[in-house]
Amino acid sequence: MAEYVKSEEIFKEFKEHSISEFFRKNSQMLGYSGKTRSMTTIIHEYITNSLDACEEAGILPEIDVTIKLIEEGKYSISVKDNGPGIPSKLVGKVFATVLAGTKFHRYVQQRGQQGIGASGCTLFSKITTGKPITIRSSNEKESYECNVDLEIKTNKPLITNMKKIEEMTRGTEVFGEFGELKYEKSDHGVEEYIKRTVLSNPHATIKLNDPDGKEIVFLRAVNEMPKKPKEIKPHPLGVDTNDLIEFAHRSHEKTVSDFLIESFSRVSQGKIAEIKAVAPDILFDIEPSKLQWSDAEKLVKVFKQIKWMAPELDSLSTIGEKQIEIAMKNILNPKFQSVVERKPKVFRGGIPFVVEAGISYGGDSGKKSNEVDKDGNVIEAEGNVLRFANKVPLLFDGSNCAITEAVKGIQWKRYGIGRFDEEPVSVLINVSSVYVPYSGVGKQAIAKEDDIIEEIKLAVMDCGRILQRYLSGVKNMQLQETRYKTIMRYIKQLSNDLSEITETDQKEIEASLKTLIEKRYSKLFGQNDNKPDEEIENKSEEEQEEKLED
Ligand SMILES: Nc1ncnc2c1ncn2[C@@H]1O[C@H](COP(=O)(O)OP(=O)(O)OP(=O)(O)O)[C@@H](O)[C@H]1O
Ligand SMILES: [Mg+2]
Repeated sequence: MAEYVKSEEIFKEFKEHSISEFFRKNSQMLGYSGKTRSMTTIIHEYITNSLDACEEAGILPEIDVTIKLIEEGKYSISVKDNGPGIPSKLVGKVFATVLAGTKFHRYVQQRGQQGIGASGCTLFSKITTGKPITIRSSNEKESYECNVDLEIKTNKPLITNMKKIEEMTRGTEVFGEFGELKYEKSDHGVEEYIKRTVLSNPHATIKLNDPDGKEIVFLRAVNEMPKKPKEIKPHPLGVDTNDLIEFAHRSHEKTVSDFLIESFSRVSQGKIAEIKAVAPDILFDIEPSKLQWSDAEKLVKVFKQIKWMAPELDSLSTIGEKQIEIAMKNILNPKFQSVVERKPKVFRGGIPFVVEAGISYGGDSGKKSNEVDKDGNVIEAEGNVLRFANKVPLLFDGSNCAITEAVKGIQWKRYGIGRFDEEPVSVLINVSSVYVPYSGVGKQAIAKEDDIIEEIKLAVMDCGRILQRYLSGVKNMQLQETRYKTIMRYIKQLSNDLSEITETDQKEIEASLKTLIEKRYSKLFGQNDNKPDEEIENKSEEEQEEKLED
């Protein structure tokens, strides 16, 4: 009989790990893979935190980023903002406890969601240099400086050298040293990331001091804060059993009925009565912390059987059509562009989101990236899909993203584009939501939810129709130009023949013919008084051909 290894033997190695230990081993999940990407990830985490903090406090953001080379692969990075500051008693948790923050349980559109970003940076600093990070922060009550270290085994912060400081104005400054990094000037680098951030957040000023000692200032274009996103309650159709149990167990309400009314939007006493009528055996009068999985499961099922008012849709804040036009002009310098903002929709039955889209044609649109990764493979061309989520540029993991999937799924031929990957065309998409379903903790790609993909497609198709009209106009112009040149080539011969037949002066005939033809093709010379051409423009391609033959 075969000898099996005893379970006692196998389970000798059984151990518990902290979440920090998990991410130490899997730092690529947080976006720390590849030196350039790791650099951009750190900047992205700190900048999104500063923007969120300023937005919540109603402050126009001023952010200073300084990156210095220490030795090959090793850099010091500092990010300073003019936000509300961080209370000293929470600074350890903010920067050195993975899964701690103010945003995780809330339904409000913010750039951060998970409570991982800041502590992920501390973890990366620790595993690549062994050093803690330094924080200086000032709020209305205190100004202090300290070092924050992350104890990986326990996922707990270790604060040292805490001292009061006098000279600091309100805000937070993070300083750290990081290894395994590279500062690169590319489509995936820090400068491009900051440029796109300011274009999608025109109320922010960001200064970058790069490792060459150059100061690049991205000044704010508007002096008003964007509309503050409204915090909403989750809609009953947007939760699963797990969510419901979690919400219930955190609730301080007296009964399950009160918990449902207080915690969800659109749940009233009337709706509770409706739910009770469908599932009378659910225990509605117990404390929510005692809600069992089986009852939660039943509740989620009943939620789907009754009629609800749609979720509140004014919880969303967009980049705005005008600003998207400015952003595309700045990044791609196109000959033509069209932008649309769709109406808010919901996914998973109850989570509101809104899609904005722009298409640009010509200029730098559709330019391929010529960067190669560490194995020498060309990095997937993202030049023609500019992705944003909650106004944050997404520069990596394009192939895992709902945006890329939707754009690639468009029948581009319908809109006058033969091959999307090869023509000078780019698409910009921003998806805004109180909860963006990212496909990984690194938050660089949006999960391929059907409702989101569908809505992105509709937005691109809206823009595509406008592009198609432009392209057929261009084609029509080219056709006319060819015809004009062909006719002009025969004008001498024709006027000679006519002069012989009619015994009129050849020069006179040539001049009259020229005037006639130029009038007929006046659009080519920038005059718009040519009726026949307008008629042609509104017709199909075949009809245009026929008309021009006449
Ligand atoms: N510059 C800052 N000013 C004020 N508060 C900050 C700042 N940076 C971080 N915080 C606070 O620290 C918390 C933790 O930040 P962290 O980046 O780890 O998580 P998050 O932003 O909530 O979510 P995500 O992991 O998606 O980024 C934030 O929720 C916020 O409350
Ligand atoms: Mg964050």
